[in-house]
Amino acid sequence: MRILITGCCGFVGIRLLEFFKSSHASESDAVELYGIDNLCRPGSQRNRATAVKLCQRFLHGDLRLASDLENVPAVDWVIDASANASVLSGSANSTSSRQLIESNLITTINILEFCKSRRAGMVLLSSSRVYSIDQIRRLPLVDRGDHFALNSSTGLPNGCTPDGLTESFSTKCPISLYGATKLASEALALEYGNSFGFPVWINRCGLMAGAGQLGRIDQGIVAFWIHSWREHRKLAYIGYSGKGLQVRDCLHPADLGQLVSAQMEYSGTCHERVFNVGGGIKNQFSLAQLSQYCTGQFGPHVVDAVAETRPSDVPWLVLDSRPAQETFQWQPTYSVANIFDEIANHARYHPTWLDESTRE
Ligand SMILES: NC(=O)c1ccc[n+]([C@@H]2O[C@H](COP(=O)([O-])OP(=O)(O)OC[C@H]3O[C@@H](n4cnc5c(N)ncnc54)[C@H](O)[C@@H]3O)[C@@H](O)[C@H]2O)c1
Repeated sequence: MRILITGCCGFVGIRLLEFFKSSHASESDAVELYGIDNLCRPGSQRNRATAVKLCQRFLHGDLRLASDLENVPAVDWVIDASANASVLSGSANSTSSRQLIESNLITTINILEFCKSRRAGMVLLSSSRVYSIDQIRRLPLVDRGDHFALNSSTGLPNGCTPDGLTESFSTKCPISLYGATKLASEALALEYGNSFGFPVWINRCGLMAGAGQLGRIDQGIVAFWIHSWREHRKLAYIGYSGKGLQVRDCLHPADLGQLVSAQMEYSGTCHERVFNVGGGIKNQFSLAQLSQYCTGQFGPHVVDAVAETRPSDVPWLVLDSRPAQETFQWQPTYSVANIFDEIANHARYHPTWLDESTRE
């Protein structure tokens, strides 16, 4: 099997390359890996040598340019892990709205045209941020001291179970410009697959974390928090009264690799193409709980409080991934504790990681 991983020098891309290389190590089961990245994400450059080693061929190319895909050989599958991956992009960070659309939507079109011409399947890494911000904010939550918890005693809205948001949760605006590029990419991928007869899987990924993640406040929050704590850098709980009660679930990219592998080998009868993919309710944590973990590892540190909530902030976002689990016989294997420990150990041995993650 030949697989192209786009954005292969990013956090998820490089972990997927590693996953496929090690999980298909025997000759009878070998995969040929191809990777492409334009190295625009500060820090991605440091994964280039690893990508060159793991790939049959690494291309330094920009997916916004269709011609940069012309030299990529025919493959069986494309895993699209390239994007400007911040929910603040396009509106509240240094990326303009046009740049965001070029990096997240024009690239999708070029990749889909590539899939069409090469008869390749497509695995799109979408996001839990396709779900309605307003509707998430209306979820019934209770303050449990160090985290928000879902209060299911009075009934939950459509598309929400005690295990989290399902694929049928509202995607009504506002979802952020980032979420809109992902939702539009999903629609295009489904239509291309349907019109031109190639397989498409859409994974609406929740927060992913692990060692080697390039941490910024708006992307890679777990890595950013743990590294910043260890380096005694300024940290703040932003929004929702500034107490750090916001909850997310957490998935390790190696677990995503297992799922994508099962999707590429799937021969069952399921017609569903869109799946939530997250660590789930067992892997939920709040920022305040992450701080408790950091205190245990590195000692106390003051966290500032910013009461004002930003437009794209949500208080609770946990994915109910049971359809993906049942369809592909898949389970996340990394617990939150495993993931935090992996990042904390990485932080100990990489004391300048944050500088490298933000260096242009
Ligand atoms: N990390 C998460 O928590 C998370 C959660 C949900 C969804 N996702 C999705 O998973 C995918 C991977 O995320 P990540 O965390 O690895 O992001 P990342 O920023 O670490 O990596 C993205 C990579 O894509 C490359 N890239 C960006 N634009 C490109 C272009 N035009 N041409 C070629 N390469 C380009 C960057 O240089 C970078 O190496 C993204 O689609 C993201 O939206 C990530």
